[in-house]
Amino acid sequence: MGWGPAGQISRRAALLGGAASLAAATATGRHAVSASLRSEPGAAARLGLGDIAARNGIVLGASFAVHELDTPYGAHYAAAYLADVRSVTSELSFKMSVLRPTAGVINLDPADRLVDFAARNRLKLRAHTLVWNDDLPDWIHRLGPGEVELLLEAHTTTLMERYRGKVWAWDVVNEPIAPWDHLPGNLRKGPFLTALGEGYIARAFHLARSLDPTALLVINEAQTETDDENGRVFRTSFLALLKRLRAKGVPIDAVGLQAHLRSDRRYDFAVFKGFLDEIAALGYAIHITELDVNDSAFPADEKRRDAAVADLYRRFLTVVLAHRAVTAVTFWQLADHTSWLTYMARNESPNSRRRPRPLLLDDAFKRKPAWFAVESALKEMPPR
Ligand code: G3I
Repeated sequence: MGWGPAGQISRRAALLGGAASLAAATATGRHAVSASLRSEPGAAARLGLGDIAARNGIVLGASFAVHELDTPYGAHYAAAYLADVRSVTSELSFKMSVLRPTAGVINLDPADRLVDFAARNRLKLRAHTLVWNDDLPDWIHRLGPGEVELLLEAHTTTLMERYRGKVWAWDVVNEPIAPWDHLPGNLRKGPFLTALGEGYIARAFHLARSLDPTALLVINEAQTETDDENGRVFRTSFLALLKRLRAKGVPIDAVGLQAHLRSDRRYDFAVFKGFLDEIAALGYAIHITELDVNDSAFPADEKRRDAAVADLYRRFLTVVLAHRAVTAVTFWQLADHTSWLTYMARNESPNSRRRPRPLLLDDAFKRKPAWFAVESALKEMPPR
């Protein structure tokens, strides 16, 4: 397939969607919530978590799903963000699976809507994620290596030109490590690796830097936190990759550590601090990018479970907030009922009476013990 000047190549239009489909995809209503919700009548006078964090230079945020604005609780959902965060991360809007569900279609409406919400409410935007060898629509798995290479370039260019100057941080590459694929460097198998080898990472970051020099460029990884063999393999493999990328001068500004903590895993946060030290020694800043607590192994009793979740947040954040390389902390949603863990539990065990309680607010957007644990950790962190 050739990719000559636009207009010659129907395949390019077929693959990426021509201007017409681009225009069609962006005609949509706008959902913004004015700052007045911050002063919603009856809103407690308590300082928001994002405001407390900002006093020490920490950008505190949460992932955001624009479809939640259309639910019966949409206004309360938005108000919870305006009260407590200074940044939002696209949980879905900037993923290939949403943007390009089929070849020849690009659906920018959810991304536009999130960019608009963040701009109108003066929130920093973390765009997650340009290149991920997972969660890809089937049609991408059917492309040849050459087409994948061109998709990486065209996709990155389309998004970063459209949102230039509006995105504070891009998760340029997500989850490059996957030990279960048993590949060299424990790299994750997928179309981008098949097409370009490990070089897909450098290609993406160099292109991203050229497209928006104002944005922070982040490489984001999961499963580096636990005190077990899996955590050790992830930390070792990811650190080795970070060293290779640094040695090649790949323009990465920050390392994203997802921190999906789990009640059924062991943690030694002194070991994790050592990992943070090693990342910082390479000259990277650190973003905690997807913090939540899977409470499935904590007691069924909600009071005890909430206390255990709060304690794990406190222990983790006490170590993380004391590390000067950490400049951003993002939760993976704010309220229990909008967590991916709740959606997953509803799908997997629809009849179970036990619902996950992983986050800071309950399903009435009321503060839980976890919220107060995070507030304390932020207030008690060493001043910067
Ligand atoms: O909205 C549709 C709904 O209409 C449909 O009925 C339903 C059918 O199952 O699917 C719904 O979309 C789902 C979407 O979440 C919203 O709930 C998608 O199938 C599902 O794949 C999607 O899962 C997301 C997942 O990433 C894959 O993109 C989760 O919400 C999201 O929290 C999760 O986030 C990932 C990070 O990107 C990377 N790190 C791990 C983290 C958790 O897995």
